[in-house]
Amino acid sequence: MPIFFQHDIDGDTRLAVWKIEEEEAFFSEMVPLQRSITHPHKRRQHLAGRFLLYYLFPQFPLSLIQIADTRKPFLRDEAYHFSISHCGDYAAAIASRSRRVGIDIELPSEKLGRIREKFLHPSEADAMNRGQASMEEMSKLTLFWSAKEAVFKWWGHGGVDFSEMIRIAWGKADGLLQGSFQKGDARFSFPVHYRMMDEAALAWIVYP
Ligand SMILES: CC(C)(COP(=O)(O)OP(=O)(O)OC[C@H]1O[C@@H](n2cnc3c(N)ncnc32)[C@H](O)[C@@H]1OP(=O)(O)O)[C@@H](O)C(=O)NCCC(=O)NCCS
Repeated sequence: MPIFFQHDIDGDTRLAVWKIEEEEAFFSEMVPLQRSITHPHKRRQHLAGRFLLYYLFPQFPLSLIQIADTRKPFLRDEAYHFSISHCGDYAAAIASRSRRVGIDIELPSEKLGRIREKFLHPSEADAMNRGQASMEEMSKLTLFWSAKEAVFKWWGHGGVDFSEMIRIAWGKADGLLQGSFQKGDARFSFPVHYRMMDEAALAWIVYP
């Protein structure tokens, strides 16, 4: 079953996660490859991400996707806001006709332990450890990283210090985090939604 998770957030906004089990040709039949990607697995991930946009909105104009200097993909007329992530055999995408979005899917890795002090503010690390006693430490770390990557993509302009500019806290319910972003005069506070699936953490933002 290629669709692993699907969530229609509102009339304009949808997200889905795909477990990649197909050969490249399955995706490339529908998806134009706009740049060369040498590594076959990375190419399949990339194609699966774009394929999901088409899956969510069959009229999505894939061939009109452009890439900003920050490497964020976008549509010039903003007919859809969208965000893509891939990790291992998963691809995730969120798209909206009206709202800004960000998504990230992440598998636990030793690297996250090595860089934890780079991406977590000390006060945030304490709060992360104190919350959700039933969740393993590596799952919490993976989730908070995934949430920050989703915020980074939602912001979309690059130049972000993860520990200073993005803060994540536990939300008031399961599946909910509280996120904030501050850069210069730009200040935002918003819910970050999440789902732990198998070992992967999925985080997404729809805001405003
Ligand atoms: C861009 C970035 C978020 C991608 O994350 P990743 O875990 O490597 O890869 P993901 O699969 O989750 O996401 C890749 C997708 O994000 C999208 N993307 C790339 N750059 C983006 C940007 N600047 N803004 C929004 N989306 C972006 C693309 O759709 C890309 O997939 P595609 O090329 O197949 O279309 C990441 O490489 C990055 O730059 N992170 C911030 C780095 C940083 O400052 N870290 C400090 C930590 S201490």
